[in-house]
Parts: sequence; structure tokens; C-alpha cells
Amino acid sequence: MLSEENIRSKMKTARCGSNVVYLYETGSTNDYAKSIAHEAQDGTLVVADCQVSGKGRLGRNWNSPHGVGIFMSLILKDGLKADKAPMITIVAAMAVMKALDRQCDNSTDVSIKWPNDIVINGKKVCGILTEMKTVGDSSQYVVVGIGINVNNESFADDISRVATSMYIEEGKRFDRSDIVCDVMEEFEKYYGMFLENENLSSIKEEYNSRLVNMNNEVEIIRQDGNYRAQSLGMDEDGGLIVRRQDGSLETVVSGEVSVRGVYGYV
Ligand code: BTN
Repeated sequence: MLSEENIRSKMKTARCGSNVVYLYETGSTNDYAKSIAHEAQDGTLVVADCQVSGKGRLGRNWNSPHGVGIFMSLILKDGLKADKAPMITIVAAMAVMKALDRQCDNSTDVSIKWPNDIVINGKKVCGILTEMKTVGDSSQYVVVGIGINVNNESFADDISRVATSMYIEEGKRFDRSDIVCDVMEEFEKYYGMFLENENLSSIKEEYNSRLVNMNNEVEIIRQDGNYRAQSLGMDEDGGLIVRRQDGSLETVVSGEVSVRGVYGYV
């Protein structure tokens, strides 16, 4: 059972998750976090057992049933320049990957699909949606929304081709509050590294070593047309460096494009 008391008693961080708001059910933890962000303490974490209108990227829904998943949103109030905020999503992806490493069997291959999907055995187990409010060119607050499929036994036909859960991959159930606290601990560590230079230079190497489609041919999906390229890894600003078929190098930026494998999701 996910509960506020459980989460609070296991939280080891100084900042991220230093205040926890637990909701049995809400529309979307990102929306709830945004509604309290102006008065909330920096580092407040909103966690829900269920979301009735969970939001994914690109206007999609995020499947958020009771009792099986993690749906949480962290409020950060550093006043970072708005153009730095997308990098926080990369930091969150690193944090979730490391937290799942701690929980999963050593032989389980937890990896990242650029920019921020966490993948086990080629299927998505976590999605991240970062939103912010800006004043001028600075952020007033950033809300980092993280959804992890933990104890789901199955998925609807339309998403089962690309989605999985920790339970499906590991064959055992997990305590969701342990994972919430592990993610906050890892986030605090990697976020600190990011803040030193306000870029991903100290994270890049580890991130790239876990990139699921490193060196592979990928399909770059752009509004003005798709093309194939070889994925060469993330740069220190969070862009994906690719080699086009004519040999030229290009950096693609998340938000503008999606990347998928030539033969499927990864
Ligand atoms: C994606 O499409 O990959 C991003 C999914 C993000 C889902 C999480 S669940 C917690 C937070 N609240 C939301 O409504 N969405 C994010």
C-alpha cells in the first residue's frame, strides 16, 4: 500500500521529496503540483495512487490505474533559465534508471530511449513529462512528472506492444514507496551535478552508456517529414547527435522531433 507515512519514513533526501503531498486519487499530479506550486516549498513531491486523467507527452493519455503504478510530480523553484528546463527531464530519466537498477535483478537491462523513456527489454516502463511556468526568460517553477509502471499485470492491447511493467519483466511485486524514495535520492544526486554547470556535461557519459539505440539506425520523426539517421548519443545540452545518410552530423532537439527504432519502438 502506497501511503504518505510510508513515503515520509523512507525518504532520505534533504531537498527533493522533503515535503510530500499524497493523494489517493487526482486528475493529474502535474496539474495538482502546478496548482500549488506558487505557495509550495521547493522540493515538494506530489504522489498519487491513481490519476483519472494522467497526461503523457504530445497530448497523449497516461494509463494510471489504482494500486499498481507510481504517479508523482516534483516541484522545483530554482529560477533556472527556461531554456535549461528540458535538461531536467534528462536528469529525471537518469534518476529513474538508477533507481530501477537498484530494484531490479542484476541481469535486467534497464536502459534509456532518448530523451527520457526508461525501457526494459525493449518496452517502456516509465515516462516523464516536465512542465514549467516562466516569468520573462526564467522559470518560476518547474514540475517534473514521473510515471512508472510498477506492479501492472497487463496492458490494454493498443499499448501492450510498447509498454511493460517491472512486475511483468521481473516476475515479482515491488514496494512502490521504496522506488519513490530511491528515485528522489538519485534525482537529488544527479540534479546537483547538473546545477554545477547548468548542463549535462557530468552526466552525459553515463547516460550515453545506457542509451538503448546508441549507434543504431533510427527514424527521426519531424513535422516536415521523417528521415533515417545513425544515433551517436546525447550532447551536453540534451540534444541527440545523429549522422544523416549523406554523412552530415546534426543535433536534434527534443520537443521538435521524436525518435523511434527502424523496426519498432526502440
Ligand atoms: C510520456 O508520455 O512518456 C510522459 C508520461 C508522464 C506521466 C506522468 S505520471 C505523473 C505525472 N502526471 C501526469 O499527468 N503525467 C506525469
